[in-house]
Amino acid sequence: MTTLKAVRGTRDLLPPETALWNRIEATARDVFARYNFGEIRTPIFEDTALFARGVGEETDIVSKEMYTWEDRARAQSEKTQSLTLRPENTAGVVRAYIEHGLGESGQLQKLFYIGPQFRRERPQKGRYRQFSQIGAEVLGPPSSGSESPLRDAEILEMLATLLDELGIAGWTLELNSVGSSADRERYNQALREALVPVVDQMCADCQRRAVTNPLRVLDCKIPADQPIIEKLPVIADSLDEPSRAHFAAVTAALDAAGVPYTLNHRLVRGLDYYTRTTFEFTHGGLGAQNALLGGGRYDGLSEAIGGPKAPGIGFAIGEDRLVLTLQAALNQNSAPLKADAFIAPLGENLNPAALVLARELRYKGLWIELGEGGFRLKKSFEAAEKTARRIVILGEDELQSGILTVKTFSTGIQTKVPRAELAVFLADSSPE
Ligand code: HAM
Repeated sequence: MTTLKAVRGTRDLLPPETALWNRIEATARDVFARYNFGEIRTPIFEDTALFARGVGEETDIVSKEMYTWEDRARAQSEKTQSLTLRPENTAGVVRAYIEHGLGESGQLQKLFYIGPQFRRERPQKGRYRQFSQIGAEVLGPPSSGSESPLRDAEILEMLATLLDELGIAGWTLELNSVGSSADRERYNQALREALVPVVDQMCADCQRRAVTNPLRVLDCKIPADQPIIEKLPVIADSLDEPSRAHFAAVTAALDAAGVPYTLNHRLVRGLDYYTRTTFEFTHGGLGAQNALLGGGRYDGLSEAIGGPKAPGIGFAIGEDRLVLTLQAALNQNSAPLKADAFIAPLGENLNPAALVLARELRYKGLWIELGEGGFRLKKSFEAAEKTARRIVILGEDELQSGILTVKTFSTGIQTKVPRAELAVFLADSSPE
């Protein structure tokens, strides 16, 4: 029989890597709480129309990458429905905002999410078909202040704080404004005209995009096309006065907060809902898939999917890419994480006493691995050295006297420690 494997583009995450995922998520939750965000959990699949209308029919995500199926009716009262595994979560959050009337309170809604997304892309390092995003959205009726450039700046300042607290150094914030939908229309027209004399020298994708969605030409990575793209009109010249003023206010607040950024006039992003501010945080260590996260403002998205006016701004971090970046940093700087101690009972008859000792130490907050009395001492030592910083030997003598033998692997020193002092001794991680 052929052995079954995880499907192409999907992965199993195993310990110890999952400890890093949990640490990232805990830090993100902590930062989001301090900025007054609450968690939202939306379904993993949605009506296909949500993404077609929300993200945009012409985008790569919707036209090529979605996992879509016809869901059969199970009863006469049900209809066959086209469903899609979510390729991103902004459209789902805005759908939920509309469905639950979250704007009716007049309050700004600040929501975050952590969860899997699905895109049928060509898998490579940092690009998977199932991947996880940590994202957040700030939206509300205009009266809630949702259009204010302060919201954009606060989101970007929060991201800088989160990356710093995670210990990610060397990120770059790339920033742009794609203006209002009228500005974009103007810019699309300018691009279309500028592309006419040069498009036949460009790649096949660009030739198609020049007709369907000229803005996407700016995403092209083909080296031969770059000199042509560099000479195309820039979007900043198509922005109307309110969009210019909005962007100037965003950058002024970032300057005041000391958040560094680089202006990138080609940053138009691959989803159609963006208006005004767009951004990406990139990291050199990631190689070709260098976008750690992306986001922007989407002032017309709610209306595009049948809701009330609800301007908003948000982002999604590629959690898989965050993990890759942190792993690279950790490999350079530190030893793998290990348990505080491994308890080795000397004989099967001491297994229950070892369980009691482990329970006592774990209760006091220590990270303990419990050995097996049936093992020879040599085997216990080998297992202990792989998983823990210290080994605690529990034989008949130790049990009777209440004095335990502890060996610290980093120094090779063996110490006698009274049971009452054991937890404090083991908690000290500095080599004695
Ligand atoms: P996005 O740029 O499509 O934006 O995705 C955000 C991030 O998700 C990317 O920067 C990348 O780190 C990660 N990502 C995307 N595709 C993959 C993949 N196949 N494998 C691994 N990581 C991936 C959005 O999804 C928007 N919903 C962001 C947003 C929120 N805009 C406003 N609010």
